Amino acid sequence: MVEEISQSTREQREIWLQEAHYNLFNLKSSQVFIDLLTDSGTGAMSDKQWGELMMGDESYAGSRSFEKLQKQVEKLTGFQFLLPVHQGRAAENVLFSTMIKENDIIPGNSHFDTTKGHIEFRKAHAVDCTIDEAFDIENLHPFKGNLDIQKLEKVYQSYPKKQIPFCLITITCNTSGGQPVSLENIKAVKNLSDQYGIPVIFDAARFAENAYFIKQREENYKNWSIKEICKEMFSYGIGMTMSSKKDGLVNIGGFIALNDEKIFRKASNFTIIYEGFITYGGMAGRDMAALAQGLDEATEFPYLESRISQVELLGNLLIEYGIPVQKPIGGHAVFLDALKFLPNIKREEFPAQTLALEIYKEAGIRGVEIGTILADRDPETRENRYPKLELVRLALPRRTYTDNHIRYIAAALKNVFDRSDEITKGYKITWESEILRHFTVKLEQA
Ligand code: F0G
Repeated sequence: MVEEISQSTREQREIWLQEAHYNLFNLKSSQVFIDLLTDSGTGAMSDKQWGELMMGDESYAGSRSFEKLQKQVEKLTGFQFLLPVHQGRAAENVLFSTMIKENDIIPGNSHFDTTKGHIEFRKAHAVDCTIDEAFDIENLHPFKGNLDIQKLEKVYQSYPKKQIPFCLITITCNTSGGQPVSLENIKAVKNLSDQYGIPVIFDAARFAENAYFIKQREENYKNWSIKEICKEMFSYGIGMTMSSKKDGLVNIGGFIALNDEKIFRKASNFTIIYEGFITYGGMAGRDMAALAQGLDEATEFPYLESRISQVELLGNLLIEYGIPVQKPIGGHAVFLDALKFLPNIKREEFPAQTLALEIYKEAGIRGVEIGTILADRDPETRENRYPKLELVRLALPRRTYTDNHIRYIAAALKNVFDRSDEITKGYKITWESEILRHFTVKLEQA
């Protein structure tokens, strides 16, 4: 599919920003020239996926399209029990309703914001066990999504088993920069968790990109196919939640896949309450068929190579210009270090948000703040939580932009970087919601 994109002037963009209360989520897509807000559901489907849309089976129960999807998921992951849902956070809602209770502890590697939201909404706690290297943007550790086994063991020693329903491994780790988790680390987490009787679950939104990095960076797997690596990764868990909007190569959808029948039975009830009957869970038959095809395409090496090297091209151009970015470059996005990029903005004035707004003003490019606004307030103290990194994410939709767009983005960023000394004032919040505030927050210039 080819879409028109529209250019605008700086004056227009300044007015639109004011009308949007300096929240980039409030802009209309027609006000954005290049949209790097997210790689979620924003990619282009293939000819074969569009073909599948025409052949979807819309039966309420037991449709052919469900069967196709179930077979595909089982082939890639080894998980035989499938519950389709309408997107990734719905998978979290269903599975966490099944497995998490008040005061539980969920260790993992930098949980994504909706994941953390679904944990905290249940008055449980997410404990970040990511390796320290992930928080040093210059450190070239090849697997900055890895969990620190010592930090994890400390969690396992500090709480009784019944309070830790599972350990969550996010592949790739979005929050720390689209950074992969190695198979060696997945195995180590599984070994340790086995000793304490705690199961491992994957947040698998970008599992194929994770498998690509394993093939490229982990000697033992360099001759394995992506599909073989995927199956190996998932063999260390009892299940997964999936946002199909990423490595499913579709615009909407998600699922839970499990090898534990007891959990599957319980989760089936929550699927029926929240999503729909267990063989569609909020998805149209045709969408499940397109997803089955998308999962197959997303786990092919040539596709992943072209996708991830485009992200790398953007990262390398920025590095060439001296712009501070999270290194190595992640799978789905380039992450700018706003504290280094805009050293004159105080943390209370949201440097990452300020940078995202400057980039939009400069060139109509929309990125997203991954910093203090996203981190929400501490649910108990209601104080702002200042994360270790204050980032702006430029996420690349799959199969959408050309390398020419990438060069335009890099040039625009260089222009902002060259005048970063002059940017001295940030923003303050005028309205915010209790949880997941970044989507709807209202701001004004400080
Ligand atoms: N887990 C991860 C790692 C994610 O990145 C996301 C979504 C979800 C779960 C939730 O999935 O959106 O389908 O409900 N990430 C998007 C992003 C929103 O822009 O990174 P969802």
